[in-house]
Amino acid sequence: MRIDIITVQPGLLESPFSHSILKRAQTKGLLEIHTHNLRDYSTLKHQQVDDYQFGGGAGMVMMLEPVVNAIESLQAKVKYDEVIYLTPDGETLNQRIANQLSLKGNLLLLCGHYKGIDERIRIHFVTKEISIGDYVLSGGELAAAVLVDAIGRLIPGVLNDETSALLDSFQDNLLAPPVYTRPEEFRGWRVPDVLLSGDHKKIDNWRHDQALERTKERRPDLL
Ligand code: ADE
Repeated sequence: MRIDIITVQPGLLESPFSHSILKRAQTKGLLEIHTHNLRDYSTLKHQQVDDYQFGGGAGMVMMLEPVVNAIESLQAKVKYDEVIYLTPDGETLNQRIANQLSLKGNLLLLCGHYKGIDERIRIHFVTKEISIGDYVLSGGELAAAVLVDAIGRLIPGVLNDETSALLDSFQDNLLAPPVYTRPEEFRGWRVPDVLLSGDHKKIDNWRHDQALERTKERRPDLL
Protein backbone atom coordinates (compact mmCIF):
# COMPACT_ATOMS: atom_id res chain seq x y z
CA MET A 1 0.00 0.00 0.00
CA ARG A 2 1.11 3.53 -0.73
CA ILE A 3 -0.10 6.47 1.37
CA ASP A 4 0.58 10.08 0.35
CA ILE A 5 -0.13 12.86 2.83
CA ILE A 6 -0.58 16.52 1.88
CA THR A 7 0.14 18.84 4.80
CA VAL A 8 1.25 22.35 5.77
CA GLN A 9 3.11 20.85 8.74
CA PRO A 10 5.31 18.05 7.34
CA GLY A 11 7.49 18.24 10.47
CA LEU A 12 4.62 16.87 12.55
CA LEU A 13 4.65 13.67 10.49
CA GLU A 14 8.39 13.00 10.53
CA SER A 15 8.47 10.75 13.55
CA PRO A 16 5.21 8.79 13.95
CA PHE A 17 5.95 6.44 11.07
CA SER A 18 9.59 5.69 11.97
CA HIS A 19 8.97 3.35 14.87
CA SER A 20 7.79 -0.11 15.71
CA ILE A 21 5.14 -1.74 13.54
CA LEU A 22 4.82 1.01 10.93
CA LYS A 23 8.58 1.09 10.52
CA ARG A 24 8.60 -2.67 10.03
CA ALA A 25 5.76 -2.42 7.50
CA GLN A 26 7.87 -0.03 5.44
CA THR A 27 11.08 -2.07 5.81
CA LYS A 28 9.20 -5.16 4.62
CA GLY A 29 8.04 -3.20 1.56
CA LEU A 30 4.37 -3.57 2.51
CA LEU A 31 3.77 0.14 3.10
CA GLU A 32 5.16 3.31 1.53
CA ILE A 33 4.44 6.69 3.15
CA HIS A 34 5.21 9.99 1.42
CA THR A 35 4.51 13.41 2.90
CA HIS A 36 4.15 16.48 0.69
CA ASN A 37 4.46 20.06 1.83
CA LEU A 38 1.45 22.00 0.52
CA ARG A 39 3.54 25.17 0.33
CA ASP A 40 5.59 23.59 -2.46
CA TYR A 41 2.44 23.72 -4.60
CA SER A 42 1.66 27.39 -4.01
CA THR A 43 2.35 29.81 -6.87
CA LEU A 44 1.91 32.86 -4.63
CA LYS A 45 4.38 35.07 -2.80
CA HIS A 46 5.77 33.56 0.41
CA GLN A 47 4.27 30.24 -0.64
CA GLN A 48 0.90 31.36 0.70
CA VAL A 49 -1.67 28.57 1.12
CA ASP A 50 -4.45 30.24 3.14
CA ASP A 51 -6.67 33.28 2.77
CA TYR A 52 -9.54 35.15 4.45
CA GLN A 53 -12.97 33.60 4.11
CA PHE A 54 -15.59 35.12 1.84
CA GLY A 55 -18.44 36.58 3.85
CA GLY A 56 -16.13 37.60 6.65
CA GLY A 57 -15.47 36.02 9.99
CA ALA A 58 -12.44 35.02 11.98
CA GLY A 59 -10.03 32.37 10.77
CA MET A 60 -8.27 31.56 7.52
CA VAL A 61 -9.26 28.98 4.92
CA MET A 62 -6.93 26.72 2.97
CA MET A 63 -6.97 27.93 -0.64
CA LEU A 64 -8.20 25.96 -3.58
CA GLU A 65 -5.28 26.31 -6.01
CA PRO A 66 -2.35 24.87 -4.02
CA VAL A 67 -4.47 21.94 -2.85
CA VAL A 68 -5.72 21.25 -6.39
CA ASN A 69 -2.15 21.53 -7.74
CA ALA A 70 -0.93 19.07 -5.13
CA ILE A 71 -3.75 16.57 -5.64
CA GLU A 72 -3.59 16.69 -9.44
CA SER A 73 0.17 16.39 -9.65
CA LEU A 74 0.07 13.34 -7.38
CA GLN A 75 -2.88 11.85 -9.26
CA ALA A 76 -0.86 12.13 -12.47
CA LYS A 77 1.63 9.66 -10.97
CA VAL A 78 -0.50 7.48 -8.70
CA LYS A 79 -4.00 6.03 -9.06
CA TYR A 80 -5.68 6.53 -5.67
CA ASP A 81 -8.52 4.40 -4.32
CA GLU A 82 -9.59 7.19 -1.97
CA VAL A 83 -8.81 10.86 -1.40
CA ILE A 84 -9.39 11.26 2.34
CA TYR A 85 -9.84 14.58 4.10
CA LEU A 86 -9.21 14.54 7.87
CA THR A 87 -11.80 16.75 9.49
CA PRO A 88 -13.80 16.85 12.74
CA ASP A 89 -17.05 16.78 10.74
CA GLY A 90 -16.14 13.56 8.91
CA GLU A 91 -17.31 10.01 9.63
CA THR A 92 -15.89 8.88 12.97
CA LEU A 93 -13.05 6.40 12.50
CA ASN A 94 -13.68 2.89 13.78
CA GLN A 95 -12.20 -0.58 13.30
CA ARG A 96 -14.57 -1.41 10.43
CA ILE A 97 -13.33 1.61 8.45
CA ALA A 98 -9.70 0.79 9.29
CA ASN A 99 -10.23 -2.81 8.09
CA GLN A 100 -11.76 -1.63 4.82
CA LEU A 101 -9.03 0.91 4.14
CA SER A 102 -6.24 -1.59 4.95
CA LEU A 103 -7.30 -3.59 1.87
CA LYS A 104 -6.92 -0.64 -0.53
CA GLY A 105 -3.91 -0.06 -2.78
CA ASN A 106 -3.19 3.67 -2.60
CA LEU A 107 -4.59 6.40 -0.39
CA LEU A 108 -4.18 10.15 -0.56
CA LEU A 109 -4.66 11.96 2.77
CA LEU A 110 -5.32 15.66 3.05
CA CYS A 111 -4.74 17.38 6.40
CA GLY A 112 -6.87 20.42 7.11
CA HIS A 113 -5.71 23.51 9.00
CA TYR A 114 -7.09 26.86 10.09
CA LYS A 115 -10.88 27.01 9.49
CA GLY A 116 -10.63 24.14 7.01
CA ILE A 117 -10.36 23.84 3.24
CA ASP A 118 -12.32 25.61 0.51
CA GLU A 119 -15.55 23.63 0.17
CA ARG A 120 -15.01 23.11 -3.58
CA ILE A 121 -12.10 20.77 -2.82
CA ARG A 122 -14.40 18.62 -0.71
CA ILE A 123 -17.03 18.58 -3.44
CA HIS A 124 -14.78 17.86 -6.41
CA PHE A 125 -11.79 15.87 -5.11
CA VAL A 126 -12.40 14.32 -1.70
CA THR A 127 -14.00 10.85 -1.73
CA LYS A 128 -14.03 10.19 2.02
CA GLU A 129 -14.00 12.40 5.13
CA ILE A 130 -12.75 11.01 8.41
CA SER A 131 -12.76 12.33 11.97
CA ILE A 132 -10.84 10.59 14.75
CA GLY A 133 -13.28 11.75 17.42
CA ASP A 134 -15.57 14.50 18.64
CA TYR A 135 -12.93 17.04 19.54
CA VAL A 136 -11.03 19.60 17.51
CA LEU A 137 -7.29 19.25 16.90
CA SER A 138 -5.19 22.14 15.68
CA GLY A 139 -4.73 20.37 12.35
CA GLY A 140 -5.37 17.10 10.56
CA GLU A 141 -1.78 15.79 10.89
CA LEU A 142 -2.18 13.93 14.18
CA ALA A 143 -5.47 12.54 12.91
CA ALA A 144 -3.68 11.37 9.74
CA ALA A 145 -1.01 9.70 11.90
CA VAL A 146 -3.71 7.90 13.90
CA LEU A 147 -5.43 6.77 10.71
CA VAL A 148 -2.18 5.53 9.12
CA ASP A 149 -1.30 3.61 12.29
CA ALA A 150 -4.75 2.00 12.52
CA ILE A 151 -4.62 0.99 8.84
CA GLY A 152 -0.92 0.11 8.60
CA ARG A 153 -0.94 -2.60 11.26
CA LEU A 154 -3.83 -4.33 9.48
CA ILE A 155 -2.14 -4.61 6.09
CA PRO A 156 -1.76 -8.34 5.43
CA GLY A 157 1.74 -9.49 6.39
CA VAL A 158 2.58 -6.53 8.65
CA LEU A 159 1.96 -8.17 12.01
CA ASN A 160 4.22 -11.13 12.75
CA ASP A 161 1.54 -13.11 14.53
CA GLU A 162 -1.31 -12.79 12.07
CA THR A 163 -3.86 -13.80 14.67
CA SER A 164 -3.03 -11.00 17.05
CA ALA A 165 -4.98 -8.38 15.06
CA LEU A 166 -7.97 -10.72 15.13
CA LEU A 167 -8.05 -10.58 18.92
CA ASP A 168 -7.87 -6.79 19.08
CA SER A 169 -10.59 -4.81 20.75
CA PHE A 170 -13.42 -3.99 18.31
CA GLN A 171 -12.39 -6.64 15.80
CA ASP A 172 -15.64 -8.60 16.42
CA ASN A 173 -17.42 -5.63 17.95
CA LEU A 174 -16.02 -6.88 21.28
CA LEU A 175 -13.42 -5.32 23.52
CA ALA A 176 -10.26 -7.40 24.01
CA PRO A 177 -10.11 -9.82 26.98
CA PRO A 178 -7.63 -9.23 29.85
CA VAL A 179 -4.04 -10.42 29.32
CA TYR A 180 -1.32 -11.57 31.75
CA THR A 181 2.39 -12.35 31.60
CA ARG A 182 5.03 -13.61 34.06
CA PRO A 183 5.21 -13.98 37.02
CA GLU A 184 2.29 -16.31 37.76
CA GLU A 185 1.94 -14.71 41.17
CA PHE A 186 2.84 -11.24 42.45
CA ARG A 187 1.91 -10.03 45.94
CA GLY A 188 -0.59 -12.86 46.10
CA TRP A 189 -2.29 -11.72 42.88
CA ARG A 190 -2.57 -14.83 40.77
CA VAL A 191 -2.99 -15.26 37.05
CA PRO A 192 -6.35 -17.01 36.38
CA ASP A 193 -5.80 -20.80 36.52
CA VAL A 194 -7.43 -21.38 33.14
CA LEU A 195 -4.62 -19.48 31.36
CA LEU A 196 -2.05 -21.85 32.89
CA SER A 197 -4.08 -24.99 32.12
CA GLY A 198 -2.70 -25.59 28.62
CA ASP A 199 -6.26 -26.43 27.48
CA HIS A 200 -6.62 -24.19 24.42
CA LYS A 201 -10.31 -24.79 23.92
CA LYS A 202 -11.00 -23.78 27.51
CA ILE A 203 -8.72 -20.74 27.17
CA ASP A 204 -10.50 -19.60 23.97
CA ASN A 205 -13.88 -19.94 25.69
CA TRP A 206 -12.66 -18.04 28.74
CA ARG A 207 -11.28 -15.23 26.58
CA HIS A 208 -14.52 -14.96 24.65
CA ASP A 209 -16.58 -14.86 27.88
CA GLN A 210 -14.30 -12.20 29.34
CA ALA A 211 -14.45 -10.12 26.16
CA LEU A 212 -18.25 -10.31 26.20
CA GLU A 213 -18.42 -9.42 29.90
CA ARG A 214 -16.07 -6.47 29.47
CA THR A 215 -18.00 -5.20 26.45
CA LYS A 216 -21.37 -5.46 28.28
CA GLU A 217 -19.91 -3.55 31.20
CA ARG A 218 -17.96 -0.83 29.38
CA ARG A 219 -19.36 -0.50 25.86
CA PRO A 220 -22.86 -2.03 25.69
CA ASP A 221 -23.46 0.15 22.61
CA LEU A 222 -21.16 -2.20 20.64
CA LEU A 223 -23.38 -5.26 21.19
N1 ADE B 1 -8.80 17.99 12.34
C1 ADE B 1 -9.08 18.67 13.45
N2 ADE B 1 -9.72 17.91 14.35
C2 ADE B 1 -9.86 16.68 13.77
C3 ADE B 1 -10.44 15.46 14.19
N3 ADE B 1 -11.04 15.32 15.38
N4 ADE B 1 -10.39 14.42 13.35
C4 ADE B 1 -9.83 14.55 12.14
N5 ADE B 1 -9.26 15.66 11.69
C5 ADE B 1 -9.26 16.73 12.49
